[in-house]
Amino acid sequence: MLSVVVLISGGGSNLLALLKAAENPLYPVKIVAVGSDKDATGLEHAELFEVDTFVVEPERFTDRDQWGQTLLSNVLHHQPDLVVLAGFMKILPESFVSAFPGKLINTHPSLLPEFKGAHAVRDALQAGATRTGVTIHYVDAGVDTGEVIVQQEIAIVAGESEEQLHERIKGIERALLVKTVEQIALGKI
Ligand code: GAR
Repeated sequence: MLSVVVLISGGGSNLLALLKAAENPLYPVKIVAVGSDKDATGLEHAELFEVDTFVVEPERFTDRDQWGQTLLSNVLHHQPDLVVLAGFMKILPESFVSAFPGKLINTHPSLLPEFKGAHAVRDALQAGATRTGVTIHYVDAGVDTGEVIVQQEIAIVAGESEEQLHERIKGIERALLVKTVEQIALGKI
């Protein structure tokens, strides 16, 4: 059984997909805790599934490294085999990243290396792209630069809004994340 800590910043629909998958005893993953950098609405999913939560807000620290160290202690407390960033919108300090070599993954709503950063869906639309998608990748010290694990493409529909496109991306993203975490648990990745 793979122990997983999930970090979120928002609504947590990817988290919810993982929590639902992990309800099945055949799914070889246990979500041991969910953390956030703010009082994210997605934490409610964890509470409903009776999973521990923690919030470590950067504003409460004088520098980013102190924040990162406290976040790291909270994560390590749960002794995860894998840490999943599922809509976690803060850049992690290198000291955090280096604590989880090959054990820290992120899901991102574009086909990396295209459209890195916090506004990937908007940026794809503004660039006039005709296709985009989702990338699940290892996290390194850069921003959305780590080794790609898997990608799935989606065609952009002419005239659709950022919100509509993001919802369609999330539709494939949730299933891809659930499958990828399962593959990691089974040692296939
Ligand atoms: C997801 O689409 C994820 O890829 C994106 O935030 C969304 C979170 O949705 N992450 C990033 O943009 C990171 N750069 P959710 O809260 O419903 O799971």
